[in-house]
Amino acid sequence: MSITVKNLDYTYPSGVTALNNVSLKINKGEYIAIMGANGAGKTTLIKHFNGLLKPTKGHVLVNDIDTITSSVAEMAKIVGFVFQNPDHQLFLTTVEEEIKFGPTNFDFPEEQIQEDMEKVVTFLNLKNLLKRSPFSLSEGERKRVALASVLVMNPEILILDEPTMGQDAIQKRNIAKMINELNQQGRTITLVTHDVEFVAECQPRVVAMTEGRVIADGMAKDVLTNLEILAKTKLRPPQITALAWEIANQEQSFPKDVITISEMKTNLLEFRR
Ligand SMILES: Nc1ncnc2c1ncn2[C@@H]1O[C@H](COP(=O)(O)OP(=O)(O)OP(=O)(O)O)[C@@H](O)[C@H]1O
Ligand SMILES: [Mg+2]
Repeated sequence: MSITVKNLDYTYPSGVTALNNVSLKINKGEYIAIMGANGAGKTTLIKHFNGLLKPTKGHVLVNDIDTITSSVAEMAKIVGFVFQNPDHQLFLTTVEEEIKFGPTNFDFPEEQIQEDMEKVVTFLNLKNLLKRSPFSLSEGERKRVALASVLVMNPEILILDEPTMGQDAIQKRNIAKMINELNQQGRTITLVTHDVEFVAECQPRVVAMTEGRVIADGMAKDVLTNLEILAKTKLRPPQITALAWEIANQEQSFPKDVITISEMKTNLLEFRR
């Protein structure tokens, strides 16, 4: 399951041009983070991956299906999409109904639904909330319900708009673990995030956007330690990188492309010798 974006332009009916000649190939089984300042066009881009938006110019192919000719319902079987704002996604009276809605609609067997629900609910810490109304939940809890309602469908491609938004450190770690696991099972994952610490920890391929264009595409280690890209995307470097830069200011041979604690530890121990 791959996604191919070819010379994509998108202009909203209001006249705002949000994407400008974007080309991108996401291969089967890849894990990608799209990063960029507010308004850079990240959400607009990923809404093309499940056919929610159709190109003004250019093409988006999901496998070999051109989204121009596909229906959103057809895409929904392959692509799971978690919205930036969970309120755009939740509409039923209990969390349990919400999570079961997709697989029930697709006529998954009841036993499988129950089993899959159990799994996501445990992973996302939602067990105690199953009988509650999604609208009585906190923002962070609602986001996790929205995630659960998509993950329970086991889609081959997962598109997540700001999955860690509003999550505490423990939930963030669980979400990171869950995404890694799904990726290891061969699912293709694309997420949008402003969370540099999350990206430093998970190390996906990073695509950086500014003003509707892709300005960088590479390893997290390279993109997150590039001053020019950080400035253009209005991101700060990860804390560990900032520390590496401070040390490199005094000790010029100290490496500047450090993004994880374990790399920092190795470098510090090495340096002490
Ligand atoms: N429904 C809409 N109608 C008109 N313009 C829109 C609409 N949605 C987004 N835009 C505009 O398109 C541009 C890209 O918006 P988009 O939501 O894709 O940005 P983003 O990178 O996801 O930002 P954020 O980090 O704030 O979520 C912005 O200039 C925005 O104002
Ligand atoms: Mg957005």
